[in-house]
Amino acid sequence: MRVIGIETSCDETGVAIYDSEHGLIAHRLHSQQHLHAKYGGVVPELASRDHIRRLSPLVKEVLNEAGISMAGIDGVAYTAGPGLIGALLVGASFGRSLAMACSIPAIALHHMEAHLLAAMLEDITPRFPFIALLVSGGHTMLVLVEHVGSYTILGETLDDAVGEAFDKTAKLLGLGYPGGPLLAKLAENGDPQRFEFPRPMTDRPGLDFSFSGLKTFTMNTLYSSDNGGIPADIACAFQKAVVDTLVIKCRRALRHTGLNQLVVAGGVGANSLLRESLGYMTDQEQADVFYPRTEFCTDNGAMIAYAGCLRLQAGQHEPLIISARARWSMDTIPSLAK
Ligand code: KG4
Ligand code: ZN
Repeated sequence: MRVIGIETSCDETGVAIYDSEHGLIAHRLHSQQHLHAKYGGVVPELASRDHIRRLSPLVKEVLNEAGISMAGIDGVAYTAGPGLIGALLVGASFGRSLAMACSIPAIALHHMEAHLLAAMLEDITPRFPFIALLVSGGHTMLVLVEHVGSYTILGETLDDAVGEAFDKTAKLLGLGYPGGPLLAKLAENGDPQRFEFPRPMTDRPGLDFSFSGLKTFTMNTLYSSDNGGIPADIACAFQKAVVDTLVIKCRRALRHTGLNQLVVAGGVGANSLLRESLGYMTDQEQADVFYPRTEFCTDNGAMIAYAGCLRLQAGQHEPLIISARARWSMDTIPSLAK
């Protein structure tokens, strides 16, 4: 089965084709980062309009890359939520209509499920069950994954998502958007001994997170310091605190469940210090850690095409309606377990 996947939940337009026999056969991404950079964050209306402009050319490009026409496609998968509602509606309307015009089935997907399954696109993949750490701009969760669609949320953020905390802290430090990678780059030149930031909620039991206090701590540190070289030192201390917090909670989740596989997904999964520290921790715990390749940590069409293929192969598809949900709990996703 060949499935075309469409991602438009935020500021990236992603289109890809996944073939159940040959794997990923084409993928393209258009990032809107430059469009939003001057506003310091995503402007939803601009995002929707740009998705409209980009989708059709990207679909043509992936079909060319795969050397097929729509006649060679068996299903359409699109992100239906969670995300920016206007942006989601562009992908959902386009995807549902494309499927109808070609008389093929369509499947509406949960964006975080697709992130969680992206590690399956690599050569060495985890086996069910495993723990997933989802760290994106809008979500921070630890999930027990028993099967495709069987998700138990073990812990989540009570306020800011990790990516959001990176972006807001980067803004405080005068960096551009999106701030995560820029803050990580700045941190490379920082003095790790200069400041010690708190590791929020690690001194109490449980697997929930809270990152908004770190942002305030950063602000206070920034405004109470007047020496040179401060932003890099602050970036370094902030990143170390976030990474340590995530590592402590991941270790706890592995011990709690007795599982020995950890999958990391979402934009912050591209962070080098996080990867290095989780590698060290999982070695100590005799566990394995899996990631999608860096380009599939952030939003992309490949994860949508793959997750869509799994669901369409299992016989699921959408009625002839266009639906998108800005908010959508992972608990309510239908399971594919027999
Ligand atoms: O998964 P994603 O592309 O979009 C959402 O679904 O939200 O994640 C984007 C987030 C942004 O907050 C961005 O700053 C963060 O991931 N990010 C990073 C890095 N690369 C992307 N954060 C820290 N270090 C990075 N290297
Ligand atoms: Zn995402």
